[in-house]
Amino acid sequence: MKVVVIQGPNLNLLGHREQNVYGPMKLEEIHTQMEAIAKQNNIEIEFFQSNLEGEIVDKIQECIGDADGIIINPAAYTHTSIAIRDAIAAAALPTVEVHISNIHRREDFRSKSLTAPVCAGQIVGFGPFGYHLAMISITQILGEMEAARQAQEAAQAQAQA
Ligand code: DQA
Repeated sequence: MKVVVIQGPNLNLLGHREQNVYGPMKLEEIHTQMEAIAKQNNIEIEFFQSNLEGEIVDKIQECIGDADGIIINPAAYTHTSIAIRDAIAAAALPTVEVHISNIHRREDFRSKSLTAPVCAGQIVGFGPFGYHLAMISITQILGEMEAARQAQEAAQAQAQA
């Protein structure tokens, strides 16, 4: 199983940017913790960060046939990008949206997510721990999908016997 973690604009500045909102943890530290959880669960993990909308769309498209699930923090594009929403929908992979801050108790423009409706779920407001929760969620979803696939295979084999 492979999960791709996609980080949007300005998340490369975590640890520096608005520490009162996003805390002191750097993106690399978050990724190191995610790597440990992935290892425990036998999941291959890849990290990608870009400040450019088109590069994020390209990365989501690359996930088709290459990954089993996506964890994404589209950052500011959450609130503006129909292109990223459409790419998530087109990829048709289980996708978990993460926000470090609680976007629902900040400026009004942050409370609307264009991407959440095409994701399996959204985790907001728990700081960097949200990425840990996203790893648990995607592991659970992928486990359930695999169990359903195996059950279907067994049913087909029985029908043919
Ligand atoms: C964010 C919330 C967005 O509104 C903001 O533009 C970000 C980070 C978060 O993780 O809390 O860049 O996605």
